[in-house]
Amino acid sequence: MADPAAKETINIDMEPVGRHVRIEAGSTLLAAAQKAGVELIAICGGSGTCSSCLVRLVSGELSPPTLVETGALNREEIEAGYRLACQAVPLSNTRIYIPPDSFTTPQRLQIEGLEAEVALDPIIETVDLKIDPPSLNDLRADTTRVNDTLVERGLEPAEIPLELLTRLSESLRAGDWFVRLALRRGEIIACLERENSPLGLALDIGTTSLAAYLVDLAVGRTLARSGTMNPQIAYGEDVISRIHFAGSKDGRQKLQTTLIDAVNGLSHGLCEEANVSRERIVEVVAVGNTAMHHLFAGLPVKQLGMAPYVPAVSDPLDLRACEIGIDLAPGACIYLPSNIAGFVGADHVAVLLANDIGKSSGRVVALDIGTNTEITLASDGRLLSCSCASGPAFEGAHIHDGMRAAPGAIERIRIDGERIHLQTIKNQPPVGICGSGILDAVSEMLDAGILNNNGSLEKNSPLVRTNQDNQAEFVLVPSSISAHGRDIIITRKDINEIQVAKAAIRAGIEILLKEAGIGFSELDEFIVAGAFGTYLDIKSTIRTGMFPPLPVSRFRQVGNAAGMGAKQMLVSAGKRRDAVEIAGKVDYIELTIHPDYMDIFLKAMYF
Ligand code: FES
Repeated sequence: MADPAAKETINIDMEPVGRHVRIEAGSTLLAAAQKAGVELIAICGGSGTCSSCLVRLVSGELSPPTLVETGALNREEIEAGYRLACQAVPLSNTRIYIPPDSFTTPQRLQIEGLEAEVALDPIIETVDLKIDPPSLNDLRADTTRVNDTLVERGLEPAEIPLELLTRLSESLRAGDWFVRLALRRGEIIACLERENSPLGLALDIGTTSLAAYLVDLAVGRTLARSGTMNPQIAYGEDVISRIHFAGSKDGRQKLQTTLIDAVNGLSHGLCEEANVSRERIVEVVAVGNTAMHHLFAGLPVKQLGMAPYVPAVSDPLDLRACEIGIDLAPGACIYLPSNIAGFVGADHVAVLLANDIGKSSGRVVALDIGTNTEITLASDGRLLSCSCASGPAFEGAHIHDGMRAAPGAIERIRIDGERIHLQTIKNQPPVGICGSGILDAVSEMLDAGILNNNGSLEKNSPLVRTNQDNQAEFVLVPSSISAHGRDIIITRKDINEIQVAKAAIRAGIEILLKEAGIGFSELDEFIVAGAFGTYLDIKSTIRTGMFPPLPVSRFRQVGNAAGMGAKQMLVSAGKRRDAVEIAGKVDYIELTIHPDYMDIFLKAMYF
């Protein structure tokens, strides 16, 4: 019989930090966040007067809005699921999304990458025109007047899209008939003030985070850069769960709108920072994995979730920004580069482009680790690619005390005898473990003899205890020094999650090497791209067997190479052609049907 004194408990999932916590029924969401060590701004201390603890309900049931909330939030906000965390009490298992402004410190996002000098090869041409104003003796329409002036200058007359037509007459008059036109493939897409150069936006749309770069197209200089979490995360942590959600009523539309709103927010912020008008942005290059690409463009994704996992489109796409709700210059266009396959998208093409992989004569592996890890091997003029389902463990998901790379996440670990040295993000008291931390922990536990090669914890180690279910667990941080007053532990199940993730990546690398007929020692370079890859300790990746045992000097961590590749395609038509060539050259290998995959994967499970 149930103990009547026992309190009912409720599970709360918090996105985008990826923290999960169990609370007693009757506690508020703010209390749940505090228990999980997630720092929400709560200026008024929870009395409901500052509106700083705003969260959005994604699923589950909350207590009805209090009077405080109906006073602080408008009807649309309440209908959209927004609540004050200090007022809302979960009535069932609940998932909430915490907007960036509600955190005391921002998430760590990878927006930096190694920039290469790229010669400008403009997609957008500008032409400065002095146009004769109309008079009673010259009644030509505005568009005729513009095109006649172009012809007088020895240029071809241009098409003018409807989006620009609605503003052109006003712009011509505001500029006193002295204007700078932005032309793209025989079309006028913007009418700028004479002193203003056209701007571009490079976007890297990741499953977890978004990165954006505002670029002056006249000189190729980056004016501002910014990143944010992908708010779609509220509808699913990985690509597969988002594809499932897209199949629900209005799901695809919701995912697209959420993403577009975030991109509009990013471009708005970048323009504010650079003190420029959004109407100067005339061109966008957006890269992402195939599912993000499709959701951004409003394409169907159902087929990406079913064998044989084919994209709806793999050729480059040109869209009008306003067609999908991106708010820029009226005629601004969005270029979406080629995808390679259902699970290898334009973001990987951009990584290859930014690192000159298509042209390299050496033997190079380039990979970008995420819930899906895309790997390419360049060898003797061939490009072989695959995608491995490395799972969300490196994002902190499915790990007992896992979390994303946010303040308080343990990212480096050293074990020295019985002493454990930790480094947390922003040096905050430890809240949980992020991907680089868990990989470090496994590597150190192996060296310290706490973990054996098949992934079992050594129960005799003084750092290992047995829980009430007789399962061994490693106490990484005792409750006395953690941010939330609970032990931070690593369980056998956590180790298994890491084994599966690292084995999937290693098996992908091995299959590509096998297909190319070379051994790992013949690799000249091993390029690790992406947010997670930036913070990895290469020695830990080798110790755990995720990467092959090459000299550390052959590894290169290049940061957000996908964003760098997108920037190159923003300023250079030649780079767009190179990207098409790269995507066309890749031989994609589907690991799930490769005859050797399972054997290699199982062997790679050992440390
Ligand atoms: S903490 Fe101030 S309104 Fe919730």
